Amino acid sequence: MRAPEILIFDSGVGGLSVAGCIRRQLPGAHLSYLADNACFPYGDQPEELVSARCVSLVHQARLHKPVDVIVIACNTASTVVLPHLRAVIDIPVVGVVPAIKPAARLSDNGRIGLLATPATVKRVYLEQLVIDFAADCVIERVGHPDLVRWIEAWVAGVPLPESRLRSALEPFRLAGVDTVVLGCTHYPLILDTLKALLPTVRHWIDSGEAIARQTAHLLAQRGFDSGNDTHSGAGLQTVWFTGQIPTGIAGYLERVGLSARQTLASWPETEGSTDSLATGSV
Ligand code: DGL
Repeated sequence: MRAPEILIFDSGVGGLSVAGCIRRQLPGAHLSYLADNACFPYGDQPEELVSARCVSLVHQARLHKPVDVIVIACNTASTVVLPHLRAVIDIPVVGVVPAIKPAARLSDNGRIGLLATPATVKRVYLEQLVIDFAADCVIERVGHPDLVRWIEAWVAGVPLPESRLRSALEPFRLAGVDTVVLGCTHYPLILDTLKALLPTVRHWIDSGEAIARQTAHLLAQRGFDSGNDTHSGAGLQTVWFTGQIPTGIAGYLERVGLSARQTLASWPETEGSTDSLATGSV
C-alpha cells in the first residue's frame, strides 16, 4: 500500500512541534505542512476569519496533493473550526485543544496554568473543557499577545526576550501552579526555556504526542501502515507559507530533524484565492 499523506496546518511555525511528534511516531508517512502566515497570528483575528481561511486553505491544499488525514495543529483554529471542517470534508480531521483533562488528572495541588493565545483563553470551547474536566481546579489563564511572535522570531534566530517572558509567566508563579498546559502549538518549541523560567512546575502538558497517536489510529483504521520508513520518500515533503517564507526556516527544520526532502514553497497563486483570503472575503 502507498504511504499515507498527512496535511498539517497552522498559522505559523508552531505546528512544527506537532509535525515532529508525527514524524517520530509515523516514520513511514508523507507529511505536508501549510502555514497561513499571511494572516498570522490567528490569536488576533476574529473567529469567523480564522474559520473561513482554515476551511478554504485546506480545500485548496487538497487540489495540490492527495491527503488522507488533516491535522489542524493550532489550538486557536481548532477551538472554532473543527465541527465546521468535519461537516464539509470527507476525510478525518484531527484537531488540538488545550489538554485540560490530562492536566486535571496529573496536578497534585489542583492549580493549573494555561498558557495560550489571547483568543484561546476566551473561547467558549475552553470554558466548557474547564467545566467538564477541571471544575474542582484553579485554572490560571495567561493569554499572551506576543509570545507567538517572539517564537516565530526565535526560529529565525532572534533571541527570546527572557525578562519579558519571565514577567509574562509571573501569574503562574504567584498562583503556585504545579502543572502548565501548553495551549498553543508554538510553545513546545521553547519548552526548555519555559522550564528554566518556572523550575517549580512538575508537569508540562503538550498535546503533540497525543495528536500523533490519534493520527496513527485513524490511518490504521483506513488500512495504512505508517509505522516503518519503508516507503521511499517518507517524511516532510512540502512546507507551504501563504505569506513570506520565514528567514532561517530551512536551518531550523534541519536542526529539529524535519528537513528530509522538504521543499519550501510560497502558497501556489492558483484559483486567484489568496487575495480574497487576505481580506477574509471567502
Ligand atoms: N500555533 C497556534 C496555536 O496553537 C498559534 C496561534 C496564533 O497564530 O495566534 O494556537
